[in-house]
Amino acid sequence: MSDSIDELFEAYRDYGRTAYLGEALSITDHMLQTAEAAERDGAPPALVAAALLHDVAYLLRRPADGAGDPDLDGRHAEIGFAFLSRRFVAAVAGPVGLHVAAKRYLCAVDPGYRAALSAASIRTLEVQGGPFDPAEVRAFEALPHARDAVRLRRWDDQGKVPGAPTPDLEHFRPILEAHLLGRAS
Ligand SMILES: [Fe+2]
Repeated sequence: MSDSIDELFEAYRDYGRTAYLGEALSITDHMLQTAEAAERDGAPPALVAAALLHDVAYLLRRPADGAGDPDLDGRHAEIGFAFLSRRFVAAVAGPVGLHVAAKRYLCAVDPGYRAALSAASIRTLEVQGGPFDPAEVRAFEALPHARDAVRLRRWDDQGKVPGAPTPDLEHFRPILEAHLLGRAS
């Protein structure tokens, strides 16, 4: 995939519209809903961009049936970070890189969190390493972007409602363009 937002959006409109992450909505609808939740919550623009991009690894790797590839489910945050950190500022790429760690963190520190996860998200938790132990919790909290990753994670979990209305991709284009490397003001 090239660096252009056009090609990125093409992937959202093409593969992303037809593939599912074990949820009852497409990858693209899931990411749009996550971004919409971030925007509704008053998130800074870089974090709205991170929300829209957080599962980009699935668009890059294109597994035949969305989720169900344990290796990709386990590594999609790192794969997304590797792609995004070459194209977008750290405030976008950083939280994406930690959004799976944030799930493991929340499972450790918030008793109600795990109970509210979707069935698909509970399944992937195992290949992602399970809940953090106390030392991992402390190490996570010390990381840059950890707090933003936790916010992103909660929007991610909200963004799984089949048929929920969202803005279209073009609504988010200016936010993405403003946070490309070398273009941030
Ligand atoms: Fe997600």
